[in-house]
Amino acid sequence: MLDQQNHRIGLLERAQPANADAGENDIRRQPTRTDAPEFPAGVADAAAGPAGPTFDSRLARLFGWPRRLIEAGKYRFTCYVFCHLWLLKFVFSVLRVVRPIMIFGKVAVVTKAEDIREVLERFDDFELGGVIEPGMPWGPFLMTVDWREQHKCERQMLESAVCPATDLHTIRTIAAEVCRSRIEALADTGQLDVVADLAEPVMVRIFADYIGVPPLDGSEQRMAHAMRHLAGIIMVNPPIDSPAWRDSRDDMVGVTRQLLDQLATQHTAGVTPITPRQTLFSRLVRRHGASNRPAWFDEDWIRCYLTGLVATGGATVIRGTAHTVDQLLERGNALERAQQLVRLLDQAEQHAADTSPPPKEEDEEVTKLRDALRLCIYEALRFRPMLPLLVRDCPRQTVIAKGTPRARLMPAGTHVIVPPLAAMFDAEAFPNPSAFSERPIESYFHFGFGPRRCFGKYIADIVLLEVVRALARLPGLERARGSAGQVSYEGPAPSSLTVIFDARDSGARP
Ligand code: HEM
Repeated sequence: MLDQQNHRIGLLERAQPANADAGENDIRRQPTRTDAPEFPAGVADAAAGPAGPTFDSRLARLFGWPRRLIEAGKYRFTCYVFCHLWLLKFVFSVLRVVRPIMIFGKVAVVTKAEDIREVLERFDDFELGGVIEPGMPWGPFLMTVDWREQHKCERQMLESAVCPATDLHTIRTIAAEVCRSRIEALADTGQLDVVADLAEPVMVRIFADYIGVPPLDGSEQRMAHAMRHLAGIIMVNPPIDSPAWRDSRDDMVGVTRQLLDQLATQHTAGVTPITPRQTLFSRLVRRHGASNRPAWFDEDWIRCYLTGLVATGGATVIRGTAHTVDQLLERGNALERAQQLVRLLDQAEQHAADTSPPPKEEDEEVTKLRDALRLCIYEALRFRPMLPLLVRDCPRQTVIAKGTPRARLMPAGTHVIVPPLAAMFDAEAFPNPSAFSERPIESYFHFGFGPRRCFGKYIADIVLLEVVRALARLPGLERARGSAGQVSYEGPAPSSLTVIFDARDSGARP
């Protein structure tokens, strides 16, 4: 079975000549299949399973434990810093005053909002592919493509599978329905886990019903864990052969096998128009059946991109949700504001639903209230951003912040850290940054800027809003006592955050 699958995938070699223009059908991008087809590099090792221990490998295991201990310690420390942001906040606030663009050997840290935005918008001068590739071993994905024209073509292909007019409604319905049923099931207990009981089930359902990747082995829990493990290796790469590394490889193989089975059973011959009822996966499969498709757009592209969406789109939203709720609970006035907006939004939606005949467009008041609640969510997330750091490589010498007193020459080969966390505490862009207040929505850095801005923002925005909305309706909502009431993590991905509320009927607290 595995051999057949290996035979079907083939190892892709994608040439990316620098500074070349790529047309939609550019044959230079045509994947070449090797004579000895196999899983893509990173998946192949994992699929093959552990090799039998040799004498050398046993010796290495015996004497390699100090190195493994140090690597495990480094991994734990990096995850801690990436999740509990007090240390990064402190360092960035000092640097912003002392040296806003700090270059230290081969690493540069940029701490002013304006300069961070400049780096993110200069696609050709600050590359992402080389930095992110080790975290995406299943094959090429949007984030590993540094060739501007090709990135644009591949992004357009992915975006062409989205039907905004209907998809937003589909996503909202799924998110609201899952939240409603989960809360209903737990209403008598007066306690729920924001991660395991709400955010994970919502994302697993969105992947199954909207994106088109059903739960691995039919298990929602297995799929939620796969999302955690795949997102985990992008955010903080674990040491080779560590438990986190092995979990991520197992799940990568699981997702790859499942997508191959799906691709084998989908009808790809001929083109039928894409329809709102299809998933992103089946819309892409239909596009693949078109005779005029670009040469690079093959079945393996669909497999790599769907795996990429599982990795970039599952645990990211779950982490964003956990951090938002954590920060709303941290600030009484913020939670009250969210609860007030949710009450008004519920009333406005009810009023619009009662109107006869029903309005064709979304009610203006409903849109206004949704935007206000989104602003409240972005502001909460500013204090604990989903992605506190972004990174780039500088392929050739260039200047940042040209024309300002802080301008610096960035040498070729510098790794540049561009932290949304630093940008959103820069008082020039976010006046009085320690206060929770309303700010222009376009000033937030949560979803990046420029050609690499987040593809899945439309999904994240709706899920964040619906989960916060469901929670804000609960009477007496607050954090659970002790460590259960704090966000806990597996690697960099959240694993739980427990809240309590007035249990139905009894009003008793657990
Ligand atoms: C709260 C949730 C999310 C946050 C905060 C977030 C944030 C981001 C950020 C900051 C970037 C830019 C990365 C960079 O410039 O290096 C990005 C890119 C990306 N995101 Fe998201 N994201 C979220 C959810 C999602 C979801 C739900 C999906 C898809 C299902 C997704 C898919 C992507 C993809 C494909 C890219 C790469 C875009 C490109 O290179 O053109 N994200 N995201």
